[in-house]
Amino acid sequence: MISQTEMDPIVSVKEVTKIYGKGYEPALSRVSFELHRGEFVYLIGPTGAGKTTLLHILLGLRKPTSGYVDILGHHLDASGGSKDIRNLRLRTGVIFQGSYLLNDKTVYENVIMSLEVRDYPVPEVKRRAEAMLYKLGLLDKKNFMPEELSGGQKQLVAFARAILHEPELIIADEPTANLDLNTARELINTIQSLAKNMNTTVLLATHNVELVAEMGNRVIRLEKGRIVFDARKVKSFA
Ligand SMILES: Nc1ncnc2c1ncn2[C@@H]1O[C@H](COP(=O)(O)OP(=O)(O)OP(=O)(O)O)[C@@H](O)[C@H]1O
Ligand SMILES: [Mg+2]
Repeated sequence: MISQTEMDPIVSVKEVTKIYGKGYEPALSRVSFELHRGEFVYLIGPTGAGKTTLLHILLGLRKPTSGYVDILGHHLDASGGSKDIRNLRLRTGVIFQGSYLLNDKTVYENVIMSLEVRDYPVPEVKRRAEAMLYKLGLLDKKNFMPEELSGGQKQLVAFARAILHEPELIIADEPTANLDLNTARELINTIQSLAKNMNTTVLLATHNVELVAEMGNRVIRLEKGRIVFDARKVKSFA
């Protein structure tokens, strides 16, 4: 692990290129940016732009073809980099595209997984999980199975699971994909206020342009694997 100070970026992506195979167009081309502690950043771009590829590289799930990522003190590059990916995962909250709840576990059991793998004491697990489910309006669904939930409710449960351990970094791939605009807005507001309280950095991929246009956050736009825009959007110029 690399030692870090408060002022260092929490994520630093340098000239990252990803080519999935011989003869393929690059999914990412020389992508560079930094994220600082407490920043909330939207990652946008059309289907196939490279958003999921980028998020997977940040999590060490895929290797860049060239370039490197320094993330929470871990160095990831074409050679695979950091040996301690488990530490990186434990300090990150992840919502994957499609949500992926475990279908043979209840809502409550799904939510507490993130604390169980981190060995939290049982009363603390119960307190946090119930408070979070209450906040998301899902406490009465605590003992439901995922198949008994709507698509949007499943995403809320996936979100609850991703943040229950108060991670330093939240990486979310389309967490609002199945939600109506109001519910999506509520979820984003919840993520934002929670992240603010904990000084957590959030990188959130979305197609939901209404949301992105509404709020004064930093937006990184990918097109065909390249960053074409990286700036703070002003509320009034939606
Ligand atoms: N495992 C893979 N093998 C080969 N090519 C891949 C693989 N995964 C993704 N790609 C390609 O990489 C490019 C970027 O895909 P990616 O999933 O990162 O896009 P995305 O921006 O997340 O799109 P969406 O908005 O639809 O989720 C696409 O052209 C896709 O075909
Ligand atoms: Mg994607």
